[in-house]
Amino acid sequence: MTNPKRVGILTSGGDCPGLNAAIRAVVNHATLTYGWELLGIPYATRGLLECKTIPLGVHSLDLRGIDPLLNMGGTILGTINHGNTLARADEILDGYRAIALDALIAIGGDGSLAILHELAKRGNWQLVAIPKTIDNDVALTERAIGFDTAINTVTDALNRLTFTAASHDRVMVVEVMGRKAGHLALHSGIAGGADVILIPEIPYSIQGVRQHIAELRDRWGRKFAIVVVAEGANHARESLQSSACGMGQYVADLIAECSPVDLEIRASVLGHIQRGGIPSAIDRLTAAAFAKAAVDLLAQGESGKMVAWRSGRVEAVRIRDVVECSPLSVDPNGTLVQTARALAIYVGD
Ligand code: F6P
Repeated sequence: MTNPKRVGILTSGGDCPGLNAAIRAVVNHATLTYGWELLGIPYATRGLLECKTIPLGVHSLDLRGIDPLLNMGGTILGTINHGNTLARADEILDGYRAIALDALIAIGGDGSLAILHELAKRGNWQLVAIPKTIDNDVALTERAIGFDTAINTVTDALNRLTFTAASHDRVMVVEVMGRKAGHLALHSGIAGGADVILIPEIPYSIQGVRQHIAELRDRWGRKFAIVVVAEGANHARESLQSSACGMGQYVADLIAECSPVDLEIRASVLGHIQRGGIPSAIDRLTAAAFAKAAVDLLAQGESGKMVAWRSGRVEAVRIRDVVECSPLSVDPNGTLVQTARALAIYVGD
């Protein structure tokens, strides 16, 4: 027998597909296996600050017996992505006490985990975390909810852009999200058949990009090219600080500037489309496995832990260690970079 628990659940940071699947799995396992009361906290720490809760039951969101949460993008709890939360730490701690939670499950990325870990320390909360991010930059886990769907979304976009680029003999420069990490650009660039992938972790030169595009044409007769640029790949960007355009447009302009022949170039920014959509099967599975493990950790009295995918198993790692090692960068000598080079994709250096 376990003690009756009043457990809060929140989503924090940028939304991504699979958050609702995780919420659903937490509610089902915690309610059916342990008989706990589950309370959703709307808009992450803002909900705590304002003492707001949403009661969550196994069937509370059913539509004619169908549970829509499994395949719904976004988060029914709402989320926040910016803000100096720690400046209002005392009020948040007061809110947590007023709601009278025994424990909290937080689904978030590395930035949110750092803040929540600090709050949990100060307030002596029992906290367990579930990693999510389309950037894949949470350390100590091989998977985070949302990344797989985002790879599929970007790969699909690259497939579409390839046909229009080929039809017009154009260079298509595609800006991909990821903050300071190039995981999303690298994964989807390889899967989507990119010719060039520029990421923050590997220096590149616009001359190198241009030469590669010229070689595609001169050696293989290819008159179009797909250039994937991670939003944080700013090696060539000294003067961009003052510029209003994003990385994609900037790289497109630079390629145009240093091209000896006329190239038709277009920049395309995929933007928040990368965070939307129906979660992939892998993200739903990851969400379910993480949710189950997170609830079990709380039941065992654990705190300060994040569930992590490691060598095909879900394990618990310390949030403190995750925060210290994040954001996780692409290994410039890793398998995927080597694979890209072997496939004659220009990745810099
Ligand atoms: O961390 C997820 C992410 O989508 C990043 O890839 C991107 O830089 C950022 O969030 C965008 O944030 P916002 O939704 O606040 O514009």
